[in-house]
Amino acid sequence: MTAELDIVRSVAELRARVKYWRDQGLTIALVPTMGALHQGHLSLVTKALEHADRVVASVFVNPTQFGPNEDFSRYPRQEERDAALLEGAGCHLLFAPTVTEMYPDGFATTVTVAGVADGLCGTVRPGHFAGVATVVTKLLLQALPDVAVFGEKDWQQLAVIRRFARDLDIPVGIVGAPTLREADGLALSSRNAYMTPEERAIAPWLKRGLDGVADGLRAGASAADLCPKAIDGLLKAGFASVDYLEVRDAETLAPVDKLDRPVRILVAARLGKTRLIDNIGVVPASR
Ligand code: PAF
Repeated sequence: MTAELDIVRSVAELRARVKYWRDQGLTIALVPTMGALHQGHLSLVTKALEHADRVVASVFVNPTQFGPNEDFSRYPRQEERDAALLEGAGCHLLFAPTVTEMYPDGFATTVTVAGVADGLCGTVRPGHFAGVATVVTKLLLQALPDVAVFGEKDWQQLAVIRRFARDLDIPVGIVGAPTLREADGLALSSRNAYMTPEERAIAPWLKRGLDGVADGLRAGASAADLCPKAIDGLLKAGFASVDYLEVRDAETLAPVDKLDRPVRILVAARLGKTRLIDNIGVVPASR
C-alpha cells in the first residue's frame, strides 16, 4: 500500500501547514493516534471531518505512557499502511514525529491530572495517564487545532483529556467518538491483533459482561451486587484475570452504586498476554 498523503515529522513543518490553512480561513481538527490503525480510528477521522475543513492525524507510539513491563517495543508500527488508510478516510496531513522531536534532550515536564486519572487504569498502569496527558498537551499546543477527536473506548483517557484541557485553558474543543465494535460486540482495538483464535473467541464476553451489569442496574440492582458476579462470569468464560469492572459517574468517574445519574460501566481484563478494556454508558430511564 502506498499513500500520497503528506507526512511531516517536525513541529515546525506541522505549524507551517496549519498556518497556511488558517491564512485561508480554514478550520482544523486533530486526531491523535499511536498508529496500527483500524476502522475505529478511521471513524475518528470521519468525525473530525464533520467538525473541521482540514484533518491532521498524528501517529506517535508514545514511550512515556507505557510501563516498563508493557508492550511499547512490540506495539505494531506500520506507517505506510496507516498513511494509506488515513488518506482513504479523507485525512489531509499525517504528523509522525520521532521520539527525539517530541522528547528532546533535557525534556523535564510532566502533566499530571488528579481525580479522574486515579483508580481504574490509573491504578493498574501507574504513570500511564501522566504520559498520555503530557503527550496530548504537547500535540494540542503543537497543532493548535479547533477540535481534537478521541475514541470513547478509552473513556477514562477522554475524561482525563477533557479535565486538563479545561484546567489548562487549552483552546481546543475535545470531541468524543463512539466505540466501533465487531459483529460479536468486541470493541475494535489495535491490541486485538495480539490474540490467539481461542482468546478471540472468549473476548466478546467482555461486552456481554458490561451489558449484563447495565441490565441489572436498569432493573434496580446495585453495582456492589452486580460487579462481583460479572467478574466471576468473565473468569468462568476464560479470562485470566480482571483488573477492574466498576460502575462510575460518567463525567467525574466517582464510584456509583445505583443508576441515579448517567453512569459508565468500565472493565479491563486479561486474556493471555493481551489486556482488553471496554466501557458502556447507561442513563436512568427518566432522563
Ligand atoms: O489513545 C491513544 O491512542 C493514545 O493514548 C493517544 C491519545 C494517541 C496518546 O498517545
